[in-house]
Amino acid sequence: MTATGSPFPRLSTGAEVGQEGATAAEYRLQAMRLEGTTALVTGGASGIGAATARRLAAEGARVAVGDLNVEGARAVVDELDGFACKMDVADAASVRAAVVAATQALGEIDVLVNNAGTDRFSYFVNSDEQLWDYVLAVNLRGVLAVTHAVLPGMQDRRRGAIVNVASEAGRVGSQGSAVYSAAKAGVIGFTKAIAREAARYRVRCNAVAPGPIETPLLNAAAQTLGEIGERLKQGMVNATIMGRSGEPEEVAATIAFLACEDASYITGQTINVSGGLSMW
Ligand code: NAI
Repeated sequence: MTATGSPFPRLSTGAEVGQEGATAAEYRLQAMRLEGTTALVTGGASGIGAATARRLAAEGARVAVGDLNVEGARAVVDELDGFACKMDVADAASVRAAVVAATQALGEIDVLVNNAGTDRFSYFVNSDEQLWDYVLAVNLRGVLAVTHAVLPGMQDRRRGAIVNVASEAGRVGSQGSAVYSAAKAGVIGFTKAIAREAARYRVRCNAVAPGPIETPLLNAAAQTLGEIGERLKQGMVNATIMGRSGEPEEVAATIAFLACEDASYITGQTINVSGGLSMW
């Protein structure tokens, strides 16, 4: 424990080397920022989740992937010597079973990435209650269910970092994705509340809000809605000030940062990873 109470002491205070802060040599040692930790990534079989699983493993974490698509999850963890399990985040019993299995396989979870998400593109006037329930169940209730299964252990151990994958849709709203936008705004609010509740147990909770990222989910709109879907995607890309879509690895890098001790004094925040799509 450092003088300030940082839960992940790694850099010296400098006292023993007679200077303030970390030495340059200590900073060089930080490439494996998650060494000795266990991470659970939901929805890690594809897209942003798969890139995150790879990135966290590359930084030294033992990585469990829980996904509806267990074959896809297995293919990802085979690369990283991790653990794959079937998990439907919309089903709290499935979540609890998967968390137990992941913990037995790899140890107590220090890092939780609530990434699983989906959408059913439709203008709101054309949507029905079934769509509302499904989209809210995966994107909002799913984050609640997995956090509920993992957070008590983190709090008991006074150690942990949660990173929720929200969306710019939750900040600025996204046409064709009204319920998804509502769910993602909910995730941003939930992130802040959990940050407040968990801080005294030394658990941090942050979120990322990606813009258009090249994954099957982004390109599903074009498949579902045809030309309108293509235009929706192009509209999102045009809304970025960088004038391009992002890559899953660019989101994974931000998630890894928030998960590790480099972000030890950051909690309750939502970082946009969106080429400047919004700036708040
Ligand atoms: P993706 O479709 O490539 O991956 C989503 C993964 O979640 C898949 O492996 C899928 O099997 C899994 N999944 C879906 N429903 C699940 C459930 N009920 N239980 C467990 N796993 C489930 O999509 P992508 O783009 O990688 O999405 C990851 C996260 O990023 C999602 O939360 C999404 O909302 C968010 N996001 C994506 C953006 C994009 O442009 N791709 C933009 C903003 C946010």
